[in-house]
Amino acid sequence: MQSQDEIAPVNRGDIHALEAVALEATRSAAIASYEWVGRYDQDAADAAATRAMREALAAAPGRGTVVIGEGEKDDAPMLFNGEVVGNGSGPEFDIAVDPLEGTSFCAKDLPGALATIAFGQRGTLWSPGPGFYMDKIVVPPEAKHSIDLDDPPEQTLIKVAKALGKQVDDLRVMIMDKPRHKKLIERVVQAGASVQTPAGGDVGGSLAVLLPTLDVDLLLGVGGTPEGVMTAAAVGALGGGMLGRLAPQRDEETDAIRAAGMSLDRIYSCDELVAGDAFFVATGVSGGNLLGRPQTHVGGTTAESLLISRNQIRRIAHTTFDEAAG
Ligand code: FBP
Repeated sequence: MQSQDEIAPVNRGDIHALEAVALEATRSAAIASYEWVGRYDQDAADAAATRAMREALAAAPGRGTVVIGEGEKDDAPMLFNGEVVGNGSGPEFDIAVDPLEGTSFCAKDLPGALATIAFGQRGTLWSPGPGFYMDKIVVPPEAKHSIDLDDPPEQTLIKVAKALGKQVDDLRVMIMDKPRHKKLIERVVQAGASVQTPAGGDVGGSLAVLLPTLDVDLLLGVGGTPEGVMTAAAVGALGGGMLGRLAPQRDEETDAIRAAGMSLDRIYSCDELVAGDAFFVATGVSGGNLLGRPQTHVGGTTAESLLISRNQIRRIAHTTFDEAAG
């Protein structure tokens, strides 16, 4: 008999069932928030995505714990940390969620908004505590042993270029266009690399590093911690390289991290951010070169998702038929 503290293992059948729930969760969140694309209401879009995702997660077999939710940083509607999801019968698992990654893209109808989730075995997803921001570097598998967050960016570019068999001039670097990255962007350009600087969306930026067709060699800069953990699930599954370090942006955040006894110097490897098998799912909300937006047509809606699990990228176009048409 299973004791209360014993963690039920996740077997292959469970994984298939959990992947199906994850796909349903991001798809429902994407379709719900799509209603809000271009309506200049971030909170309503986030709330619609969160509600839809929470409902879908209730059907998950087993007992899942939201280890890392989104919302606290921006005071947005959220699946909160510690919230328990699932039907209670089956394996134990952890999830990291951002029902709407890129809320402002959704509100303004700009490409890049995604509904995202990562599932890992119980106890495997790192919790950033009160840390909202982290410094990140993400590279393809060939460069995973060539990165160090303590290196100056110029050095990183030289090492990553070498590992990828390129010149620094050939590198394309994704850095979010934020005031905090002004110097970083200048230094990367000065060193000879080219930059892609979207207004936000470092999960999508990291996926672009992992997907060979999107022509991005590395991601640098400070972004959200939930996004970091979800990214690590995808990076780890595909054997890429990632490092992260808490990078608080306000004094209260720094104080809270210190009070929680966490280090501001510690660099976390991808294996520490996600310490076991995990998978990642995203569904497109506002379109872009990664994933299209949901398409409504007579009888139903088709949404496009990516499911990234161990050494696999699956691109899934799923059509849900309206009940009346059923
Ligand atoms: P939201 O889901 O909160 O809209 O996050 C979008 C995003 O750009 C993330 O991709 C990124 O990690 C984070 O915000 C950066 O935060 P900030 O915009 O506060 O610099």
